[in-house]
Amino acid sequence: MRLLVTGGAGFIGANFVQSTVREHPEDEITVLDALTYAGSRTALAPVEDAVELVEGDVADAALVDKLVSACDAVVHFAAETHVDNALSDPSPFLHSNVMGTFTLLEAVRKHGVRLHHISTDEVYGDLDLDGSERFTETTPYNPSSPYSASKAGADMLVRAWVRSYGVRATISNCSNNFGPYQHVEKFIPRQVTNILTGRRPKLYGTGANVRDWIHVDDHNSAVRRILDQGGMGRTYLIGASNERSNITVLQAILRLMGRDPDDFDHVTDRAGHDLRYAIDPTVLRDELGWTPAHTDFDDALRATIDWYRDNPQWWSPLKDAVEDRYAKRGQ
Ligand code: NAD
Ligand code: TYD
Repeated sequence: MRLLVTGGAGFIGANFVQSTVREHPEDEITVLDALTYAGSRTALAPVEDAVELVEGDVADAALVDKLVSACDAVVHFAAETHVDNALSDPSPFLHSNVMGTFTLLEAVRKHGVRLHHISTDEVYGDLDLDGSERFTETTPYNPSSPYSASKAGADMLVRAWVRSYGVRATISNCSNNFGPYQHVEKFIPRQVTNILTGRRPKLYGTGANVRDWIHVDDHNSAVRRILDQGGMGRTYLIGASNERSNITVLQAILRLMGRDPDDFDHVTDRAGHDLRYAIDPTVLRDELGWTPAHTDFDDALRATIDWYRDNPQWWSPLKDAVEDRYAKRGQ
């Protein structure tokens, strides 16, 4: 298969490209990535001989048309992804997430190319903190932030292009990922690298908010399963049934790094902070036989901490600027 991977120099995309090179050496991979602050060539360095990297914008219609015409399938990761950045300046989120997806849809429509669109469970809004309800494929969209609203808009465009034009597309909405190459602005890498650089971890509000954590390799194995076997026009929810409050995750990091469980700061809460996300992955399991491999959270978290400890050259050039931005927001 000739694959075009948008956003393949970001966290999940780079892990997808690396695992595809390992597990499907028969595939030809082109990455389209704008190399924003969140993208890095070095995330693709281990596979640079096996992959073509094109630096460009997924909203550049001429470039996207050319690349799509030369591939069999597109896996669309490219997006602005951080809620706190969206709250400060939503504009790039509308450009990359909405206009970028629109641009790609027009190209796959013209060339009859298969698309898998990567989305998030945040499009469903949040759940009660104490409830047991989980998101399913039929949960109504109810996004809270400019980020999740722009992803919801992109998902709606994909659904409309499937229905109106018969575009061959699938969508997946996944829960919170963790693992190697995640930007240090995000929760788990921020806390790990705070400790590694002698800073104190920062918890928003009381830390009661719940996220449903999945290892990035499990997200990507599900994406590959959907790409190969998913039903056209279908939406699949990806999750590993691993709900944890933020304070529980932070204290696990502190414990695994040999710190005192109270060795962190409470900081200003996020505006509109979603309370709880939880995915019901039954459809993916029953229809496509997918299950996660990283089922021991402590083990996967320990391996992730080790990766950050062993790869300071990848993240340390980014760290001070990220912390300066957070400090200005009291976070
Ligand atoms: P990331 O921010 O680490 O990487 C995004 C990549 O997209 C970067 O390489 C960036 O340079 C690129 N990009 C941004 N705008 C672009 C544009 N206009 N044109 C081309 N490239 C552009 O994000 P991530 O965490 O790897 O997320 C990837 C996808 O997965 C996103 O669509 C996100 O919504 C979705 N997702 C993420 C999570 C998570 O926990 N990180 C969970 C569910 C879904
Ligand atoms: P994040 O990684 O930004 O993912 P998302 O907002 O998409 O779920 O944040 C995960 C959770 O951690 C979220 O509830 C916000 C919280 N958080 C902190 O408590 N401290 C931090 O420094 C960051 C970045 C996030």
